[in-house]
Amino acid sequence: MPDASMRKWRSYLRNSLSIAGLFITLVSTVVGLPLMFFDIITDKANPYAGIFIYSVLPGLAAFGVFMALAGAYYERRRRLRSPGEPLPPLPTIDLNDPSQRLTLVGSFAGILVILVLLSITSYRGYNFSDSVRFCGEVCHGVMKPEYTAYQNSPHARVACVACHVGPGAGWYLRSKLSGAYQIYSVTFHKYHRPIETPIKNLRPAPETCEQCHWPAKFFGAQQKTFSHYLADEKNSPWQIQTLIKIGGGEAKAGAAAGGIHWHMYLNNDIYYVASDPQRETIPYVKSVGKDGRVTEYMSTENPLTPEQLAKSIPRKVDCVDCHNRPSHIYWAPDRSMDLAFETGRLDPSLPYLKREGMRLLSGDYKTEAEALAAIAKGLPEFYAKTYPALAHPQAALIGEAVRSIQAIFSATIFPEMKTDWRAHPNHIGHLNSDGCFRCHDGLHKSADGKVITNDCGACHTFLAQGKPADLAKMKLQAQPFKHPVDVGVDVTTMKCDTCHTGTIGL
Ligand code: HEC
Ligand code: HEC
Ligand code: HEC
Ligand code: HEC
Ligand code: HEC
Ligand code: HEC
Repeated sequence: MPDASMRKWRSYLRNSLSIAGLFITLVSTVVGLPLMFFDIITDKANPYAGIFIYSVLPGLAAFGVFMALAGAYYERRRRLRSPGEPLPPLPTIDLNDPSQRLTLVGSFAGILVILVLLSITSYRGYNFSDSVRFCGEVCHGVMKPEYTAYQNSPHARVACVACHVGPGAGWYLRSKLSGAYQIYSVTFHKYHRPIETPIKNLRPAPETCEQCHWPAKFFGAQQKTFSHYLADEKNSPWQIQTLIKIGGGEAKAGAAAGGIHWHMYLNNDIYYVASDPQRETIPYVKSVGKDGRVTEYMSTENPLTPEQLAKSIPRKVDCVDCHNRPSHIYWAPDRSMDLAFETGRLDPSLPYLKREGMRLLSGDYKTEAEALAAIAKGLPEFYAKTYPALAHPQAALIGEAVRSIQAIFSATIFPEMKTDWRAHPNHIGHLNSDGCFRCHDGLHKSADGKVITNDCGACHTFLAQGKPADLAKMKLQAQPFKHPVDVGVDVTTMKCDTCHTGTIGL
């Protein structure tokens, strides 16, 4: 038998599979390291680079290592089966031998460097896959509506994961698993347009919203002014000042308990059954008071049969049953035009601008480009035809209006994803969709005659209503609702959205 130390043994790694694997690992490391370095020192890297650096390259490197090991395994099996081939013995480590000492120290240093690199990539990869950049920009076509609306929302600085994942390892893992499915559905175009809501497995709000907001600490009412502009020739302004009884409170904290958050949320657990997946129609409601009192309400308009009720699983109301659009708010054309007048982005001196803006915004478009072109053409055409005397002197103003209306379109309506105020109605309030009136319509009754209130005063008090010029002279005082135009019926006995669809065609 030849002396082991005298002979050069052929390593198990000397086979084509292992060599190819090691080559892949080497190339991905050599390419990845400088890229990672640049990504760490620059703030505004591109999200695709992130995917490449923190998923594709480490994945390739790991795959290379796997190939090398698999190659070595097959090589050993091959040599075991062919008797002519000698097997390398296990190395004898002799720390007295200076060259072996050097090799050993070298190997440990190498392993240490690899471990440090691994922890940096996995830490950066973890942060990256949780970043707003990753969630909002990677599948930019798909997430465009959500990401655009999010950037214009009160939560523009709150990370997507603060609401969609929340703290804790369990939900982190769940989100990555569902994320893997989402990557598949985006790659193979399996997703819905619009993305379906309500999100079925949204984490319960106490573990997300309530990490930042503390309803027990809310109290009092909020004075809010709603500025409207009518769809008439003058775009006549009309303001409504209200006190919205937000409430909340906790006697222990010294706050007087009352208001919307208190009655609806803190003092009662409310459960409901919806008859459609979007939860727009709610036939059955149950309230369980903190004192144990249970009241069941059934809609007299569209009741459930006892069998339907027995089969359904009631959902417990939490923040997102009212605040379903805290971050992705797709304003209706009516509301966005009003906001643009109010903030000076549109000039109300152009006749019928509100009406024409709503009409152009709610056209039936296939793509954003088509809509922007239709707005650019439609508005000047309207003025040229209806107000020829105005069209020329006001050309600059009309041009500005075109740009503002185009900006509204791009920020709130997304034809490619079929996403707008109709696909995702806002449940706060009740003007353009049923919202609170899904239950508070005066038609949900209990067996002993209790009704879920539709009294306008339960949720807000009107303080002043009218043209802004008159409003300035008025004394603020509680008063009944005044509908700005006479429509020949008592609108307070109807659901507002029977007429107010959010756009023209009232
Ligand atoms: C303040 C909390 C919050 C933040 C921040 C947030 N979301 Fe949402 N998101 C929600 C809620 C609530 C819903 C609606 C849930 C429902 O109706 O079931 C939602 C719905 C969605 C939907 C479903 C479609 C839709 O338009 O409603 C997508 C997709 C989505 N969010 C993506 C994102 C992305 C991407 C980000 C970051 C750029 C983000 N979200 C940030 C709370 C948030
Ligand atoms: C990471 C902290 C954080 C989380 C999580 C969070 N919010 Fe907020 N939210 C804020 C901050 C900060 C503001 C105030 C923004 C401002 O006034 O500019 C705010 C504002 C609001 C407002 C008032 C909006 C307005 O128009 O003035 C509502 C309503 C709200 N959040 C609801 C929610 C709901 C519902 C959720 C859960 C889906 C949620 N928030 C999750 C931090 C958070
Ligand atoms: C019954 C429906 C309902 C539920 C449930 C509900 N809210 Fe509200 N919340 C409202 C209404 C209505 C307002 C006033 C909104 C407005 O006028 O724009 C409001 C206002 C707010 C505001 C703004 C307060 C201010 O003073 O500006 C925050 C923040 C908020 N809610 C957070 C929450 C959180 C967090 C939860 C869950 C714990 C929650 N809400 C549950 C209906 C609800
Ligand atoms: C799922 C059905 C449902 C929805 C949606 C709903 N509510 Fe309620 N609300 C109830 C029930 C049931 C009660 C009665 C609780 C009880 O038994 O005392 C109630 C009570 C209230 C009260 C107390 C009324 C009183 O007589 O003192 C207020 C205020 C209120 N809700 C506000 C709102 C607002 C604002 C919204 C919309 C943002 C809303 N609710 C949406 C079911 C609902
Ligand atoms: C269950 C609670 C509730 C009841 C009952 C209720 N409202 Fe409201 N209403 C709201 C909330 C919440 C808002 C705030 C919406 C927002 O902040 O955008 C609102 C907003 C309004 C606004 C301002 C909307 C806008 O965009 O200008 C008017 C006007 C209004 N309500 C009229 C009425 C009238 C009239 C009645 C009685 C027939 C009534 N409401 C009953 C909860 C209620
Ligand atoms: C029978 C149909 C009808 C019903 C129901 C109705 N409205 Fe109106 N409303 C109108 C018409 C028509 C106008 C005038 C539209 C215009 O000139 O912009 C109008 C205008 C308004 C305006 C001011 C202009 C705007 O559209 O911004 C407000 C605010 C308003 N209504 C609130 C309400 C509220 C709140 C309810 C529910 C309590 C309600 N309306 C129910 C038909 C109706």
